[in-house]
Parts: sequence; structure tokens; C-alpha cells
Amino acid sequence: TNGRPQISASFREVMIDEKSSEDGVPEQGGATVSITVVGASGDLAKKKIFPALFALFYEDWLPEHFTVFGYARSKMSDEELRNMISLTLTCRIDQRENCSDKMEKFLKRCFYQSGQYNSEEGFSELDKKLKEKEKFNAKTSHQAGKVPNRLFYLSIPPNIFVDVVRSASRTASSQDGWTRFIVEKPFGRDSGSSGELTRSLKKYLAEEQIFRIDHYLGKELVENLSVLRFSNLVFEPLWSRNYIRNVQLIFSEDFGTEGRGGYFDNYGIIRDIMQNHLLQILALFAMETPVSLDAEDIRNEKVKVLRSMRQLRLEDVVVGQYKGHSKSGKTYPAYVDDPTVPSGSITPTFAAAALFIDNARWDGVPFLMKAGKALHTRRAEIRVQFRRVPGNLYRRNVVGTDLDKATNELVLRVQPDEAIYLKINNKVPGLGMRLDSSNLNLLYSERYRREIPDAYERLLLDAIEGERRLFIRSDELDAAWAIFTPVLKQLEEKRVAPELYPYGSRGPVGAHYLAANYNVRWG
Ligand code: NDP
Ligand code: BG6
Repeated sequence: TNGRPQISASFREVMIDEKSSEDGVPEQGGATVSITVVGASGDLAKKKIFPALFALFYEDWLPEHFTVFGYARSKMSDEELRNMISLTLTCRIDQRENCSDKMEKFLKRCFYQSGQYNSEEGFSELDKKLKEKEKFNAKTSHQAGKVPNRLFYLSIPPNIFVDVVRSASRTASSQDGWTRFIVEKPFGRDSGSSGELTRSLKKYLAEEQIFRIDHYLGKELVENLSVLRFSNLVFEPLWSRNYIRNVQLIFSEDFGTEGRGGYFDNYGIIRDIMQNHLLQILALFAMETPVSLDAEDIRNEKVKVLRSMRQLRLEDVVVGQYKGHSKSGKTYPAYVDDPTVPSGSITPTFAAAALFIDNARWDGVPFLMKAGKALHTRRAEIRVQFRRVPGNLYRRNVVGTDLDKATNELVLRVQPDEAIYLKINNKVPGLGMRLDSSNLNLLYSERYRREIPDAYERLLLDAIEGERRLFIRSDELDAAWAIFTPVLKQLEEKRVAPELYPYGSRGPVGAHYLAANYNVRWG
């Protein structure tokens, strides 16, 4: 088997049974898939989406009969699109074996249509071209009778999501197959605007057609979180307030908003990272055991946890913003030095928050989040700090006097250097009795030689296969916004000034005071 658990029968059939003609257009029976990247000229498309599609093709994950289209306002020929995307394609597997050959084959299946985002004309043109590719058989030059499926990836600014969905769904939907839309965040700025976006999208699409992406859910270690919990006897019994003192969800980047300040200033770090990426991880971490691995069963459990969470309070939040800084002759800019950021902006580039889940399992356990840009390091981690051993026989033998540091800690390092490690106490070898802390360490790069796929690869493949497990359902989104909306409003209304921290530092000291309020020390 190919190792993926839930590939639909029809998809397998397409993968196994059909032979393609030279340009990948259909021959007989089965289905075709057209993937249209709307906003193809943009940053995300170039950086992530086209490379992910190529990686899937390179590893034979894409269905036999697929076509990729780019759509944007920029004028470009097919050839120019191919030149543009070829710059960012890489072969990360098998030491680049047959790479240029595969790249050429992939690029031959990429096409471009220019058009406006709110124009049915543009999408009708696209529809015509899609039909040609779906129906034309290079060898026999007649219709091949395959079911044409269509996937649209909306890699565009949020103010034009609805325009595109309206025009594309009306004029470029598949007549016989499925039509799905992957929507990129941001999904609104608060409960109200998110609800409005959902209502607008649902005027044109059924919920099953909407794939709201949160690319953190496609990361290997986040996928592994549930495996770790539910397929090992040793963790799940400890997974509650009885044994866990606190949980930390940490995101940091060692670069600033660089070039994305225009987008970022309207959102800030709480909306950019916490309300989605970190909260999604929290929901997976804290949910009850789902009935099955079915998408709806998992999403039902995630919604329950989110709905059990307390609204975040202003006193449980610390915000910061990076300031300019010189180090070893190098100058690092302040957030407000970004030419796309309005001068005097108080948008937070850092935030720390303490969240709580009011249910039987997690009552009283602080879930601390920390997210920031332009910090000293790039990392994303889930840290689980366990309680002290009651009446610890060895408390006098712990190195130093800090019993807090000697408690067990489980760390899932999402990136970089993916790893899962458990901090335990052990005896220092020798005739004396001294305790030390060591890590039982599963470092992915040592255990597995193959590279880890990019999150976008997994998510694109899931969308093609109709697997919704890693996409956000609208009720999840509502519940997520309900936790953050009041505090976001207060921060803005009260114009809470962010604590300034130097570019490349560990962030505002306020984050430590916040953690200390709950007897927590950041890991
Ligand atoms: P871009 O700003 O690069 O926009 C994508 C394309 O949309 C542009 O190439 C442009 O194409 C068109 N466009 C840009 N601004 C406007 C406008 N005001 N009106 C109409 N069309 C416009 O966006 P990204 O590629 O950075 O991001 C795409 C989506 O993905 C956004 O929703 C973003 O929030 C999200 N995202 C981006 C990430 C990233 O790393 N870049 C990470 C996570 C999410 P043309 O002029 O040719 O029509
Ligand atoms: C995006 C945010 O969702 O995630 C960016 O908008 C952030 O601000 C990015 O840089 C981080 O993603 P990754 O996969 O590089 O950690």
C-alpha cells in the first residue's frame, strides 16, 4: 500500500488503473482533476503551493490525469508561468533522481489564464480552457468521458475571497464532478466578520465544498500528536489535570514581518498565529478520544473543547512589538520601520496568553501560548509540564535545589528539527546518589532518513481526496473566534500599548510575569 489510510476507492482506481497520454489529459473512464491556483502570481503560490504540487507529482501522489492552472490579473503566457514557478521547484526526495525530467513533465501540465477576480468573463474563459484539458484526448482526439473534478486554491487577499467564489462557482464549477475551494486564512478579523464571510461563502458553496486551511494542521508533528496520545498506553492515562501542571504552545520566528507588514498590521500576532495555528494544536491536544478517525468525529471533539474554553481576559494577555536594534555592527529594523506599516502602529508582533478549559479533564490547568516575530530563534513547540512526584524520595538528591525543574516534561518540537522528547530524572553514574535530568529523545532526522513533507503537500492531497479531517469546519471557526474576539476588541478600544522588545531578543519580560501568575516557567 502507499501508507495513506483513507484514500477513496475511486481515487485509487484513478491512480492505479489509468494510463496517461503525453500531456496528462484523460483517456477513458475514471476522473480528471484540475487544480486552479487563484492568485498564482503571489507570494504564497510561488513559495508553497506550486512547489507542493510538484512534490506530490514527483512522488506519484497526484492522480494520473491532473492539470494545474494559474489564475490572476497579471498578464502571463503559459510559458511565463512555467518559467516563474520553475524557479521555486525543488526535488527534495531520492537525491534528485530524474528530477529535471519530472520537472519538465510537471511544467507541461501547468497553464495560465489571466482575469479579474470579480469577473465572470475571466472565469468563463478559464472554464473553456479547463474543459479542453478535461475532455481532449491527445491520441484519439475525442472526448474521453472521465468525470471532471475541480479544485480552486484561493491564494489571494481576503477582501476578494467572496468575489472569486461568486464568479468561479457560477461559471467554472464542474458540471459532473466535484468542485472544491481551499480558502486561506485570515477567515475574518473577529466573530462578526468571520460569520459574515462564512455566510457569504455559503451563498455560493455548500460547507462540504469549503476547505479552510490551517497549514499547521498539516505539519508532521501536529499529525503525530494524536498518534502519540491514542496509540500509546503510557500517555493517555496521564493526559489530564491529575498529572499535567500546564501546557505551553510556543511559536517564535527569528525574522520580522519583512514585506508582509501591510497584511500583518491589519491583523497582529494574535489573529495571525494564536487564534488559528496555536488554538488548533491546543484543540487536538485537549480533545476527548474521538469515536473514529473520521473527519466529522474528530472535528466534533475539537469543537467541544473550543466551546468549553473560557473567553480570554485582558489581564491574561501580554502584547509586545519589536523595536530596532544594533548588534555586532548589524542593524535590525523596528516593526514600524517597515514601509508598509503605518507610522505609530501599535499592532502586536508578540503576544503571550493564559487560556483555560472549563471541563472535567482540564479544570484549572493553564494553557499558555506565546507567539512572536523577530525573536532570537525560530521554533514551534508543544511543552507539557507534569506535576511534581508527591513525597519524592529523592528530593534531596536533585542537582541544584529547584524541584520545579526536576519534573517530567514532554516536548513535541514541531519545527525545526522535528522531535519528541521526554525529560526524565535519572541517577548520575557513580557511587554517590545524585539525580540528573535527561531526555528520552526521538529526533526525527536520526530515526527517519527521509525528508518530512511540507504541510501544504499533505493538505493539498487531502483536499483532492476529499479528506476533511485537517480542515476547519465553520462551527470550529466560530468557537475559535468566540475565545479571542472580546479581548481583541478591548486591546483595540483601549489602545493598549505593546511592550517594546529588541529585534532578536527573547521578547517582553511581561510574558514571564504572566506565566509566574500561574506558577509557570516558560520552557
Ligand atoms: P499576495 O499579496 O502575494 O497576493 C496574491 C495575488 O493576489 C497577487 O499576486 C496579486 O495578483 C493579487 N492581489 C494582491 N493584492 C490584491 C488586491 N488588493 N486586489 C486584488 N488582487 C490582489 O498574497 P500572498 O500570496 O502572500 O497570500 C495569499 C493568501 O494566503 C492571503 O490570504 C494570505 O493571508 C494567505 N497566507 C499567506 C502566507 C504567505 O506566507 N505569503 C502564509 C499564510 C497565509 P495579480 O495582481 O496578478 O492579480
Ligand atoms: C502564517 C503566518 O500563517 O504562518 C505568517 O501568516 C507566519 O506570519 C507563517 O510566518 C509561519 O508558518 P511556518 O510554516 O513557516 O511556521
